[in-house]
Amino acid sequence: MQDYHLILTGFMGTGKSTIGRKVAEKLERKFLDTDEEIVRRVGQSVVEIFAHFGESSFRQKEREICDELSSCRENLVVATGGGTIFFFDNLAHLSKKGLLVCLRASLAEISRRLPSCTDRPLLTGDYRYLYERRKPTYDSIEHWVDTSGKTPDFVVQELLTLWQSLKK
Ligand code: S3P
Repeated sequence: MQDYHLILTGFMGTGKSTIGRKVAEKLERKFLDTDEEIVRRVGQSVVEIFAHFGESSFRQKEREICDELSSCRENLVVATGGGTIFFFDNLAHLSKKGLLVCLRASLAEISRRLPSCTDRPLLTGDYRYLYERRKPTYDSIEHWVDTSGKTPDFVVQELLTLWQSLKK
C-alpha cells in the first residue's frame, strides 16, 4: 500500500485538508489538495467557479486531477473535495490509485466546525439532506477514521497507525 497515494475523502468539514497536510509532513510526502489545485489552475475561488462556470465545470476539473494521479511519479497524500467520489468513475479510479480513507464526522460535529461557511457553495443552505444522501457511500469505504470529538493531532496519529498496519 505504501507505494501508492494516500487519498482522503469524507464530507465537508471532516478535516481532509488539515489532516492531509499534517500526515504528508509526517510521511515526508508532497500534499495535494484537489480544491486548491482547481483554484490554482482556474485562478478563481471555488465559489466563483461554481457561480461563473457551474458545478459541472468544477467536477470536470476534479476528474482531470483524479485522472492525473495515475501518471504522477511521486506518491502523494491527497485531500479530495467532499463530492469528488460521487462524480464520474472517480471512486473506482481513486480506489485503484492508492489507499482511500474516509474521514467521518457526525452531522452535529460538522455543524459545530462549519457554523457560518461562505467558501463552500454546497453548504449555504440546509445540508442535512446532502449529508444523509452521501453517507451510505462514505460508510461503504473500507478504511476510515472517525474524527468526531478528536483533535487533528489525534486523528493524524490514528491515520498513521492505519497506514502502518496496512504496510505490505
Ligand atoms: C464539495 C466539497 C468542497 C469543494 C466544493 C464541493 C462537495 O470541498 O470541493 O465546495 O461537493 O462536497 P471540501 O470537502 O474540502 O470542503
